[in-house]
Amino acid sequence: MDRLKAPARLMIVSDLDHTMVGLVIVWFLLVSLYILVAAVILLDNILLLQVDHHDPENMSLLRFNALWEACYRNDSLLVFSTGRSPTLYKQLRKEKPMLTPDITIMSVGTEITYGTSMVPDDGWVEVLNQKWDRNLVTEETSKFPELTLQSETEQRPHKVSFYVDKANAQNVTKALSEIFATRGLDVKIIYSGGMDLDILPQDAGKGQALAYLHKKFKTEGKLPANTLVCGDSGNDAELFSIPDVHGVMVSNAQEELLQWHAENAKGNPKIIHATERCAAGIIQAIGHFNLGPNNSPRDITNLSDFESENISASSEIVRFFMFYERWRRAEVENSELYLASMKADCDSSGILIHPSGAELSLCDAINGMRSYYGDKQGQKFRVWVDRVLSIQTGLDTWLVKFNKWELSGKTPE
Ligand code: GLC
Repeated sequence: MDRLKAPARLMIVSDLDHTMVGLVIVWFLLVSLYILVAAVILLDNILLLQVDHHDPENMSLLRFNALWEACYRNDSLLVFSTGRSPTLYKQLRKEKPMLTPDITIMSVGTEITYGTSMVPDDGWVEVLNQKWDRNLVTEETSKFPELTLQSETEQRPHKVSFYVDKANAQNVTKALSEIFATRGLDVKIIYSGGMDLDILPQDAGKGQALAYLHKKFKTEGKLPANTLVCGDSGNDAELFSIPDVHGVMVSNAQEELLQWHAENAKGNPKIIHATERCAAGIIQAIGHFNLGPNNSPRDITNLSDFESENISASSEIVRFFMFYERWRRAEVENSELYLASMKADCDSSGILIHPSGAELSLCDAINGMRSYYGDKQGQKFRVWVDRVLSIQTGLDTWLVKFNKWELSGKTPE
């Protein structure tokens, strides 16, 4: 990762489904269309709706996003480590208010990519190619009627994936392990979420991929000062066995991960089972292990109360767009005082440059907000900023680059 010139202050390596991102998949008939706003995929006559009933508005994720961008983005690394293939990962990013990670590990630690353009790590592909025979895996697994092949998108060069019910999982795993051992193929079989069975090369997996990254950073003299791994299910267990990491199993972790923990890592004080769900559990762990600030700007009622030790150019951007969201939702008073205080925080020469190239003075941008007051009142309207990167250009001037996203919907909450 060339973005950081020094070792990252914190590297967060987080699973997505039910860890960073809360979701419950529910099938509805088309008639439910009118209640949907954010995350909808139309499949013939059926809708696939992804909502976390405990967090229908993705507030935990949005709280994490604001904390990360305000306090960590500039000197830390965000790594997503998911079982999803690139196809399903990109789909999730369209459905949920997610940040852009620095590194994306997909297909259960078998694919590592860097940056926004997701450049693949060819060195990792070479490592995995060494002791792998995909054809042998498909040949032997086809003899098991208990195994149902997952969709084509989830079959990857170093990952063959099935569904199998809980009752058969253990027996099938045992039988397969014996067959592969007899045939001289060293594979890793992972059962997750009480339904998914993945077969990977022995050197693959989320844990091995993280160990590979740590080794790479160490060679470059950039081993992160702290690493926090976050997960909820079977394929995350390996993450927790990497030396020197802190770990959080979110409160909603699956039985298979809790059982793995009870059998393998019970006395390890560096691993906690959070009392908070999903991304809120990650924030809780940052605080528990003292890894850095853990007050999300979203949790602050009065935005001018943001702690002064955490103020930076990035946190100002986050704070500004929090205010913008609340202004448009009419959650702050329609008072000239607010606008005046915002303007007072801006340098008179400060400008906002739109991607189109259009420039607007910061004061004019704030004045323009008058006409938007309350236009999103009672609606699902959320704003988040992503990749907030700031460079100091003078004694008291910064150039800040960021992406701003809005999630909008007409339905009253
Ligand atoms: C994701 C993948 C699936 C895999 C599962 C568990 O859901 O899409 O292929 O089996 O994670 O690792």
